[in-house]
This record gives sequence, C-alpha cells and structure tokens, in this order.
Amino acid sequence: MTGSGSGIGRAIVDRLHGDGWSVLGVDLKAPEGDLAETLPGPSLGADLTTREGNRAAVDAALEHFGRLDLVVANAGFQHVSPVADFDEDRWDALLAILLTSPFLLAKYAWEALRAAPEGGRFVAIASAHALAASPFKAGYVSAKHGVLGLVKTLALEGAPDGITATAVCPGYVRTPLVERQIADQAKAHGISEDRVLEEVILTPHALKRLIEPSEVADVVAFLQTSAGGAFTGSPVTMDLGWTAR
Ligand SMILES: NC(=O)c1ccc[n+]([C@@H]2O[C@H](COP(=O)([O-])OP(=O)(O)OC[C@H]3O[C@@H](n4cnc5c(N)ncnc54)[C@H](O)[C@@H]3O)[C@@H](O)[C@H]2O)c1
Repeated sequence: MTGSGSGIGRAIVDRLHGDGWSVLGVDLKAPEGDLAETLPGPSLGADLTTREGNRAAVDAALEHFGRLDLVVANAGFQHVSPVADFDEDRWDALLAILLTSPFLLAKYAWEALRAAPEGGRFVAIASAHALAASPFKAGYVSAKHGVLGLVKTLALEGAPDGITATAVCPGYVRTPLVERQIADQAKAHGISEDRVLEEVILTPHALKRLIEPSEVADVVAFLQTSAGGAFTGSPVTMDLGWTAR
C-alpha cells in the first residue's frame, strides 16, 4: 500500500486493517514516534520515484508477510501549471510516481500475485483525470490516463493466473493534495483562493461536494471481496457525476 502516510492512502490502510488484512504502508518517510504508534501495521520509508524504492517496497512486504495478495499503488502528488511554463523536472517526477511506480510495483510483485491463493489483485488509485482532462494539469492527466492503460494490460496478462487489476477513479477527495493546489489553481485561473473550491474544484462534479478518503477506502475494500472479483481491466469510477457529461 503506497502513499500510506496521508489522505486516501492512510484511509485505505485503516480500512483494510480493520477488515483483517496485514498491510505494509510505504511512504517517503516511515512514521516515527506517536505517529508510528497510530499506524496499524508495519511501514517502510522509500522514494517510489526510484526503481530501488519500488523494489524495496515489494521485498519488504514479502519479508513481513511471506506472500502478497494485493498491491495498492496510491502514492502521488499534483502540479498545476500552464503547459508553456510546466517545469520539466516536475513532469518527470509526476510520470515517475503516478505511472512508472505502479508499473514497477506490478512487475516486481507479479510472481507473488500469481501465487496468491485467492488470485492476486492490483489496484491503482487513478483519478477522474484518467478519463477526462482539466487545464493546467498536463503531467497529472497524462500519467493518470497512462495508468489506466497499464491496468488494462495487467488485467489481460494476469487473467490466466486469476490476477485482477482495476483503476479506482475518484473525483476530488478531501485530502492535503487538494488543499495544496488551491494557491496554484488561483494563480493559473486568475481568481482568488476563496473562489477556487466553488469555481474550479467543484465545477466538474454534478454532486457539489468533495469525496471523503474513507469513501475511496470503502471501494478498495469492496474490490478485495469475492463480490469485487468481476472488476478487472477497467476504471472503477466514483466521480460524483463528473464524467457523465
Ligand atoms: N485528493 C484527490 O482529490 C484525488 C482524486 C483522485 C485521485 N487521487 C489520487 O489519490 C492518490 C493519493 O492522493 P491523496 O489525495 O491522498 O494525496 P496526499 O498528498 O494526501 O497523499 C499522497 C501520499 O503520497 C506520498 N508520496 C508522494 N510522493 C512519493 C514518493 N516519491 N515516494 C513515496 N511516497 C510518496 C506522500 O508522501 C503522501 O503521503 C494519488 O495518486 C492521487 O493522484 C487524489
């Protein structure tokens, strides 16, 4: 489970643990002190923009648990900028964390997922931005569309071994990732920060609210049940009506 230190990732760790799973949380820094005590399972600090970080994440899960039934590729960040000014290093980093990390995690975990007794499962936390674009998010939108392609490919390759792969596609979720982009959105759209939530963030949602991290965790938990077994090679869209238009 990557990106376990915040937002959606933290909610998924808590939910899966509550459902009886043993979960390794992976994030840039392993939590320390009081924070570590609140985490329900082991954790690893690793930079998932590197091959070594993704390899270490899979190796640590196998060391802790001796098997791997599920990979959740969730770690990510956002960068808001017009394309002409888009920082090229930020582009590289976005592609590394949002697209290459899920690929590497799947590659390194593949043999273990094939051996999972109930059929291995791979879940990417993608986004409504895997299905639709927004201005000023070239790197994020490109990477999220790419991860949906990855999931489709994994589903086809994994099917003979009972592996499923899905891309959960939420609209805007109430997390630090959304809070951090408010200033950049205000600048890019030329409006005040106060107007960003109503006029930018909630605009694509037919239902005018944010999604809670626990709602995303509920969907990931459902995908692990036997009832979730038919979902593979597809987006699992939970976008408050965004892509209905
Ligand atoms: N918040 C939303 O509105 C929203 C909507 C759709 C999809 N998503 C996706 O959900 C996922 C989680 O987002 P969130 O909103 O919970 O964000 P968040 O900022 O709350 O958490 C992201 C976590 O990823 C970790 N991370 C970032 N770079 C990393 C790296 N190089 N190595 C290891 N860990 C790294 C961060 O440390 C952080 O703990 C992302 O993939 C995001 O694109 C978010």
